Amino acid sequence: AEVQYHDFVVQATPVKRLCKAHNIITVNGQFPGPTIEVKNGDTLVINVVNRARYNVTLHWHGVRQMRTAWADGPEFVTQCPIRPGGSYTYRFTIEGQEGTLWWHAHSSWLRATVYGALIIHPKENSSYPFTEPKREVPVILGEWWDRNPIDVVREATRTGAAPNISDAFTINGQPGDLYNCSNKDTTVIPVKAGETNLLRFINAALNTELFVAIANHKMTVVSADASYTKPFTTSVLMLGPGQTTDVLVTMDQPASRYYIAARAYASAQGVAFDNTTTTAILEYDCGCSEPGQGIPPVFPALPAYNDTGAASAFSAGLRSLSTVDIPGPVDENLFFTVGLGLFNCPPGKTCGGPNNTRMAASINNASFVLPDTYSILQAHYQRVPGVFTTDFPAVPPVQFDYTAQNVSRSLWQPVAATKVYKLKYGSVVQLVLQGTNIFAAENHPIHIHGYDFYILAEGFGNFNAAKDNAKFNLVDPPMRNTVGVPVSGWAVIRFAADNPGVWLMHCHLDVHITWGLAMAFLVEDGVGELQSLEEPPVDLPVC
Ligand code: C2O
Repeated sequence: AEVQYHDFVVQATPVKRLCKAHNIITVNGQFPGPTIEVKNGDTLVINVVNRARYNVTLHWHGVRQMRTAWADGPEFVTQCPIRPGGSYTYRFTIEGQEGTLWWHAHSSWLRATVYGALIIHPKENSSYPFTEPKREVPVILGEWWDRNPIDVVREATRTGAAPNISDAFTINGQPGDLYNCSNKDTTVIPVKAGETNLLRFINAALNTELFVAIANHKMTVVSADASYTKPFTTSVLMLGPGQTTDVLVTMDQPASRYYIAARAYASAQGVAFDNTTTTAILEYDCGCSEPGQGIPPVFPALPAYNDTGAASAFSAGLRSLSTVDIPGPVDENLFFTVGLGLFNCPPGKTCGGPNNTRMAASINNASFVLPDTYSILQAHYQRVPGVFTTDFPAVPPVQFDYTAQNVSRSLWQPVAATKVYKLKYGSVVQLVLQGTNIFAAENHPIHIHGYDFYILAEGFGNFNAAKDNAKFNLVDPPMRNTVGVPVSGWAVIRFAADNPGVWLMHCHLDVHITWGLAMAFLVEDGVGELQSLEEPPVDLPVC
């Protein structure tokens, strides 16, 4: 195993897309940011220097961070932000994980432009559980705003209204030639006839789930969220923000140019969505290399923006590579509702949400508020009272028909608070994530920091243990770090709480985090202690 050192300078960089230039925040002036490539077992030491005018933190999405919660990164959860002019060194080891993960800013909406791939190759002297690919290519899906995304979210927070949507989707930072003014801003991936390549898809978009397809080529899924899967062949992928999927593609078509295209899966029912499409070009060695010239690329079939069936079919295809030893018996049976809601407008004020409200979101009716004086982990470690409470409810405070629309608002006014749920170190947790349709029915990509979990089952309607327990896959469920809770439906996940620390769980649509769709688990070992957690680094920022 090796130790790899990196310097990441967070800075403002002028970037032009859609014919408009503005300063975006980048790492080392690159957009997308630098790709990190390591082997399972290696240690990363990343010195982050903040030369931007915003607070920033970086998060290593999907990295287990065993005993190194201090390096996880969500601001005010495991660390205070790195102030402008400040720096912090993230140090952690990849333990047992292989595949594609990524890194991104975890402060306000900075991750709109601050992100990159984190590729973990098999550990020394071992290989992939599939045919060695000829080439490997990260394919990072993102979103582009003509405006500064921080201004977009600040305005929405001030008014209580829903923020603007982005101006384009992107592949490796480029919108692609179906957008205005983007002929040159198209990612081209050169390939050779007969080769089998590994494409590492990452959904780094801020607020949009995406379908992806490649014209005339099948994809064989071999990994998701850095866990190997039973190979399955499909023509469409669906990735929620935060999710990754590795696919093998054999270049078995006539030498030509083929579009890789991605378009929104906008599951909010009844809401028509701007379904513009981002493209990259898979280009055979055919002497047709100038974008915008030669034969026009072939376009793939993509599902409609509201094709919930296509999204479910994809997630149903995912299975662990081998039979797994599911953690059990269950010590903690949790039932969390996830969904949007509305806050009343403060008296005498005018608010921008529907019917003079403020947009809100919650888990079990608690709308998460970040502290600002300490991170939760620092407050716990130093026993500073008053920063958070440990009364996050194990089950919803009110029972009702969660998937019904137009439920009386009096039933479901979220409570804004910083509540955590305590888990005993080593306990086995089973969590039902139940979508609610109070304000809108939507698929929520729920991510847990510091853990991978097994997805035992997914379904539509209200979860009903009496009949749905029978649907659990206890043989080869997929292991992920982000689960798309189906629109008007539920998902059941299971994990063992074997990593001490404070671990954020949230919807990976950033607009929903802004509205409070988050909570944190506090995993203690010993008695009220974090005994096996490493000491905080000396340069850990203070608030
Ligand atoms: Cu990509 Cu809090 O996560």
